[in-house]
Amino acid sequence: MRIVLGVSGGVAAYKAVLLLRLLREQGHRVRVVPTASALRFVGAPTWEALSGEPATDQVFEDVEHVPHVALGQGADLVVVAPATADLLARAAAGRADDLLTSTLLTARCPVVMAPAMHTEMWEHPATVANVATLRARGVHVIEPASGRLTGADTGPGRLPEPDEIARVALAVVEDASRATAAAADAGAEPGHGPRSGPAQDLAGRRVVVSAGGTREPIDPVRFIGNRSSGRQGVELARAAAARGAHVTLVAANLSPDVAALVRAPGGVPDAVVEVETTAQLRDAVRSAAAGADVVVMAAAVADFRPAHAPDAKIKKVPGQGPEPIALVENPDVLAELARDRLRPGQVVVGFAAETGDAHGSVLDHGRAKARRKGADLLVVNAVGEGRGFAVDANDVTVVDGAGDVVATASGLKGEVADAVWDVVVPRVAPSDERAGVGE
Ligand code: CTP
Repeated sequence: MRIVLGVSGGVAAYKAVLLLRLLREQGHRVRVVPTASALRFVGAPTWEALSGEPATDQVFEDVEHVPHVALGQGADLVVVAPATADLLARAAAGRADDLLTSTLLTARCPVVMAPAMHTEMWEHPATVANVATLRARGVHVIEPASGRLTGADTGPGRLPEPDEIARVALAVVEDASRATAAAADAGAEPGHGPRSGPAQDLAGRRVVVSAGGTREPIDPVRFIGNRSSGRQGVELARAAAARGAHVTLVAANLSPDVAALVRAPGGVPDAVVEVETTAQLRDAVRSAAAGADVVVMAAAVADFRPAHAPDAKIKKVPGQGPEPIALVENPDVLAELARDRLRPGQVVVGFAAETGDAHGSVLDHGRAKARRKGADLLVVNAVGEGRGFAVDANDVTVVDGAGDVVATASGLKGEVADAVWDVVVPRVAPSDERAGVGE
């Protein structure tokens, strides 16, 4: 494959050297296009020696080959790692003020960006908006990892490891070529019209997906929450919509980039109900589930909530320790849905994010949970150590209600979503088998 590796100016540029080596070892031709600031971190001789190709940020070199147009046009993949806040801003604005941004404007191949910056920059509304713009245009922006940044500080903003970037980038290319092949099969022009997805095997079906993480108020300004971004749930909702389903997404506190994905082209839910607490999520899911063929509980639901949440902010009393917060148990929404079966023949799907511990592996815990919850399917995935939450890729094992493994899937969360639907669809009863249900 012909890859353009764009590098913008951050300390993490050193990791792009390892990414370059990895891509070369996999047999790809790689042309490095650094920005001027990237060259202050890692010089052209390093890029040139490792890639075997010239490395410049200049548009006015080698002009007879028109590199600012030719590089983008000739690439099968453009990866930008690290992508700084400035590079994201320039790309979102459509600037063409150096060789890398010109290349981004001429590329018609998949473009993957791996941002790296301080947490404050990543979370700034300007950067959030730029990332949403790029994603809406089809650029695959990888979530930064959380961890140690340049100084002693930590938080989201770290460049993912080179092998993870390579894995995601190559999966994005595969995904794009599958979509192009399917579009060609369907007689559509590649790159135009609706994304040709899988067969419309959920056409006419009603699907409810919960996504995100619930928050339980401690007082008007504080809450107990969790790290779920909602990405996997939103990908499931989008995949179901792309397969023809009528989808209600119950969205609990999605991260801003995932909320932007809900509106991005290529499978948009019909209805989005925003909720905050477990009680709200339970009401929204149950009311939509009454008419649904499938309910997928992908949300991370708080097991406990504070017993009392005062209307006024809890004040610190100097010299007195903190008041303990008494918790009470929340209803188990998934177990209730599995028990109540709000519609005959309804397929109920749960998720289990597990870490594994002294009592058992991730899969042991998942199998036990499947038996306990009574859902038809449970999608088990490992979380922690940079896996699961707020990362783009996922490895899952799907078990049935008896705890037996029925499928495994790995890849981008969109691919995992399709793999989950592949397992669910055959379990959805044909319309005429659902007793007492008017269509
Ligand atoms: N779930 C739910 N209601 C709850 C807790 C969880 O509906 N109060 C659902 C989640 O949406 C998910 C599945 O149950 O589909 C598993 O969630 P998880 O938090 O892993 O399950 P718990 O029963 O809370 O188990 P653990 O003891 O591991 O926290």
